[in-house]
Amino acid sequence: MEFEQDTSLVNVRVLIPVNAEAYRSVRLCSLHEQPPAFGSLPELEPNLSETAARLAESDDRCFFGAFKGEQLVGIIRLSRYSAPNEKHRAYLAGFYVLPPFRCYGYGRALIHKALDRAKNTLGIRRVNLTVVTKQEVAIRLYQSFGFRIYGTEEETFSRDGQFYDEHLMTLKLNSDNDRNA
Ligand SMILES: CC(C)(COP(=O)(O)OP(=O)(O)OC[C@H]1O[C@@H](n2cnc3c(N)ncnc32)[C@H](O)[C@@H]1OP(=O)(O)O)[C@@H](O)C(=O)NCCC(=O)NCCS
Repeated sequence: MEFEQDTSLVNVRVLIPVNAEAYRSVRLCSLHEQPPAFGSLPELEPNLSETAARLAESDDRCFFGAFKGEQLVGIIRLSRYSAPNEKHRAYLAGFYVLPPFRCYGYGRALIHKALDRAKNTLGIRRVNLTVVTKQEVAIRLYQSFGFRIYGTEEETFSRDGQFYDEHLMTLKLNSDNDRNA
């Protein structure tokens, strides 16, 4: 497993419509995992052609994928708020690495790439996210990039009779790209 621990070989790139099938498969794995990390449900996920349409890159939404060779093993989405008075904010969502590929640097590389994109997008000065409080690895990882918890919403999700709280996290970007916010 030496190859996987060399994070310089982690390949993270923007996903495009041709990646729709692989993306959807990883996304569905994320929605089936216990305990829940995400608010969505497998049956609510867009179908393949809708997924392909969503992967068409836009100024305000971008999906990133981490690859081992040609296999998609991790995903994250950076979305920018669309209202003119909210466009200075973006948020991260759908962050997930397939279980056999965890702890090899794919997750850190995904966040790094998404934040790079935010920092280099004129007008974005803050990135937010929400994370289920039980997802301690993800929370520590976000904190290592400077995200801080600014609130906790109780009983955001329920599954199988259990309720899950969510932390709200935020990161103020240290960049001078917010002049035209
Ligand atoms: C969070 C997640 C995406 C991280 O992916 P990953 O590829 O394992 O992350 P990395 O390999 O880059 O590891 C990041 C850090 O977490 C640590 N880490 C990863 N898994 C860990 C574990 N099970 N226990 C302790 N530490 C762990 C790593 O050591 C690393 O720390 P370091 O960079 O200081 O050495 C992955 O665990 C996951 O998909 N979890 C379920 C979904 C989820 O919680 N998503 C977030 C929703 S908001």
